[in-house]
Order: sequence, then structure tokens, then C-alpha cells
Amino acid sequence: MHRDSAQDTLPMATVGETLAVVGDVFAPNIAKGVIVRRPKMVGLAEKLGLDQRAIQRLQKLNEKYGPGPLILNTPDSKRMALILDPDHANRVLDETPEPFATAEWAKRKALEHFEPDMALVSHGPERAERRRFNEEVLQSDCPVHGLGARFAEVVEQEASELLTQVEQEGGKLDWDRFETTWNRVVRRVVLGDSARDDHALTEMLEKLRSAANWAFFHPGHDRVKEDFHERVCTYLKRGEEGSLAGEIARLPTSEITQPEHQVPQYLFAFDPAGMATFRALALLAAHPDHGERAQAEIAEHLQQPAAKLDYLRACLLESLRLWPTTPMVLRQTTQETEWENGIMPAETSILMLAPYFHRDDRHLDNAHRFDPDLWLQPGEAGDWPMMPFSGGTGICPGRRVVLTVTSHMLARLLQGREYQLSPPNRLLSSKPMPPLLNNYDLEFDIKAG
Ligand code: HEM
Repeated sequence: MHRDSAQDTLPMATVGETLAVVGDVFAPNIAKGVIVRRPKMVGLAEKLGLDQRAIQRLQKLNEKYGPGPLILNTPDSKRMALILDPDHANRVLDETPEPFATAEWAKRKALEHFEPDMALVSHGPERAERRRFNEEVLQSDCPVHGLGARFAEVVEQEASELLTQVEQEGGKLDWDRFETTWNRVVRRVVLGDSARDDHALTEMLEKLRSAANWAFFHPGHDRVKEDFHERVCTYLKRGEEGSLAGEIARLPTSEITQPEHQVPQYLFAFDPAGMATFRALALLAAHPDHGERAQAEIAEHLQQPAAKLDYLRACLLESLRLWPTTPMVLRQTTQETEWENGIMPAETSILMLAPYFHRDDRHLDNAHRFDPDLWLQPGEAGDWPMMPFSGGTGICPGRRVVLTVTSHMLARLLQGREYQLSPPNRLLSSKPMPPLLNNYDLEFDIKAG
């Protein structure tokens, strides 16, 4: 197809618009913490409605420039494009890792602090091998992992201990209590029962993640990184039955695989899963009709050893749609790519802002409502890009393990109990769901149902 040179150029934002994107999209996400959240900044972003501003900023640019992709007015060495069109988002997700590599430079700089050889920041044969490994460990094709019954048992034990403690102390559940329990579950699921009380490991990872929040602006904690990897390797050598470490011990690996660089991602990424679970609990507390549907599923299915709790999974997916824990999905072009509106050069970073698609009230009737049926009836959202776990060929291979562990945690917390948010008007079904829900200050009053 012949193009003239004007057609060959994708639309470019003005300097003012680029600065506005930096201020409304990048700055708040960086302030909240990309790799580990800063609770105070999350609270501030909720109060100021910053997530809504980011969506509105991209909607404005979409109205002015059409489908894009829109190139930001930055130096060529840091060229970045915004994806504004749903078909373009689906294309980028489907054509990963070539020509849209997951190993985008800013992501690489951040993850270098604790997992420089992770699949997500690898490319070519190295990425292929590491992706294979992660898919096999996490059994990404299976709706319920082979260890699902074991994971459900771990959740049951820890949730029961948490509830006993909460009930002895007056019946209030807050984030700090929940997080302690959640971290125990995560260490047992990933590394085995012997890691249950290894808080030091989680603390080391948190220190490395805090440095990763600053990407290349932080020199890194080399000593902590070494100690952390050594400790992870000890658990991997132990390969405890009934944990992901046990699965790893059985799988073939090569020099390229680097399991000790994949496993930190498992530990780190379970953190947002806890946030999504706590928010889903809030959604169910605020929507009694959905709470009843959840209780019905629990009564009917929870006694099965590795129950697949579809309704609770849908509630979790809604929690992630409304408040995605990976709001910025990034890719980088490995070669020149052609679009209807022009050519995008190689080495361009691409940003897909998940909330811009998930909350697009111009196209989705229930964009700001809690609507688990969106996930229960296939095709309900058509081809609309929903990317809580990204999508296409780079989709999160851990998503089904996540949905198993989180849905069982929700089920065990809810079984035979009623939850009320404190204060009750913290989230109201009669109002649109807020642009952000600060998980750190959620509190519930629990009563026997
Ligand atoms: C709520 C929890 C989680 C969410 C929302 C989530 C979301 C995501 C997203 C969006 C990506 C792609 C990122 C990108 O393309 O830049 C990703 C990648 C990945 N996730 Fe998750 N994740 C979660 C938990 C987990 C857990 C618990 C595990 C492992 C047990 C896991 C394993 C992975 C791996 C291995 C990748 C790299 C995939 C690749 O590039 O090949 N995730 N996840």
C-alpha cells in the first residue's frame, strides 16, 4: 500500500498534552508505587480521585486524536505510544512478544532489583524457556491446579486461625490482620509449610521492591538481593511436597531457566492478589444480593476438596476490573510496526492503561458498577479488552492459581458469617464504584450469620 509521508506519521501529542499525561497518568501511579504500594499515597490518590483523572485525560486525547496510537512528545530515545483503541489493545496483547515485547525498558529497570532474569523482562529463546517453565509450574492451562485441594486446605487452616483471633478480640477485621494471614498462605503455597513464619524473607523482598519502585534512580541493595536469592534457593532445594517449590523440583530446567528468578515474581505477585481479595470482600459486604449468591455457592460447593468457585472467582475478577492492581500494561516494539494511521518506530514503549478500558463508560453500560455476571457469561463484554491479568500470549500464567487461592480465602472468610463495612457507607451499592478503593483502611465488623 502506498502512503505519503504525512500519512506515515502517527499522531503526536503536544508538549503540553504530554506533560498532562505525565501529571495525570504516570506521576500518580509512580507515587502510589508500581512494584510495592505506598499505603499513604494510595489513600491520597483515593481522596483526590486521581485514577478518574487519568481515565479522563486519555478519553480527551482519544476524542481529539481518534484511535491513535498516540505518540507522546518525548525525546526519541524514550519514545512512548498510548494505546487508545480496543482493537489496538487486543492486537498488542495478541502479538506479544513479537513485535510487542514484554521486556519494556522501564519494567526491566524496575525488576532488575530482584529478578533480572524473570520471563517478563526476558526476550527471545530465554523468554520462551522461562515462559514454558512458569506455565508448567503454575499449570496455566488448568482451571484448578493439581495442588488445588492442598492450597484450599492451607487457606482453610490460616483463615480459621485468623477468624478465631478476630472473634476473640471483638470481631473487627482490618488490613494488618488480614495481611499477616495472607503472607503465611502465600509462603506456604509457594515455598512450603516450613516457610510459614519466614517473615524475614517477605521483609527482604519488600525492601528490594521498594528500591524497584525507584527503578534506575535507586542504586539497589546488592547484599539483600544476594541473601534473598540464597534463601529462595534453600527452599527450592528442599522442594516441599504440596507447594509450588515441590512442583519445581520435579520439572526439567536448563541453565537458562533460572527458577530462583521466576519464584520472586510468584511471591511478589501474590501481594496484589491479597489486595483484590480484601476489596472483593468489601464489594460483597456492600452488595447484599451478591453476598447471598456467594453464600449459596459456598453452601453448595465448598465441601468439595478443590472446588472451582465460579461466582467468587467472578467477584475477584470484578475487583480487579474496577481496581486493577497492574494498571499500566507495558510493551516495547522490537521492529517498525504498521497501523491504519501510520508507522510506529522500533524501540517504542507502549502503554495500555487498564482502567481506561475497564471503566470506559462511553461503551460499557456497567463500567462503574459491580457486575460479576460480566465474567460469568462469556462474550458479555464482547471483544472489549479486559486486562487484569494482561491478555493474549503474555497473559499471567499464575491467574488460575491466584483465582483458586483468593476464591477459597473469600469462601472461608464468608462461610457462616456476615460482614459489614465500618463505616457502612464506605462503599454503597446505590452509588457508582469509586475510581480507587484504598484496601489499607478497610475495616469489617464480623457477625455469625
Ligand atoms: C492478583 C494477582 C495478579 C495479577 C493481577 C497479575 C497480573 C499479571 C499481569 C498483568 C502480568 C503481565 C504483566 C506485563 O505484561 O507487563 C503478569 C505476569 C506474570 N504473572 Fe501475574 N498476576 C497476579 C499474580 C500472579 C501470581 C500469584 C503468580 C505466580 C504464582 C503470577 C505469575 C506471573 C508470571 C510468571 C508472569 C510473567 C508472564 C510472562 O511474561 O511470561 N502472577 N501477571
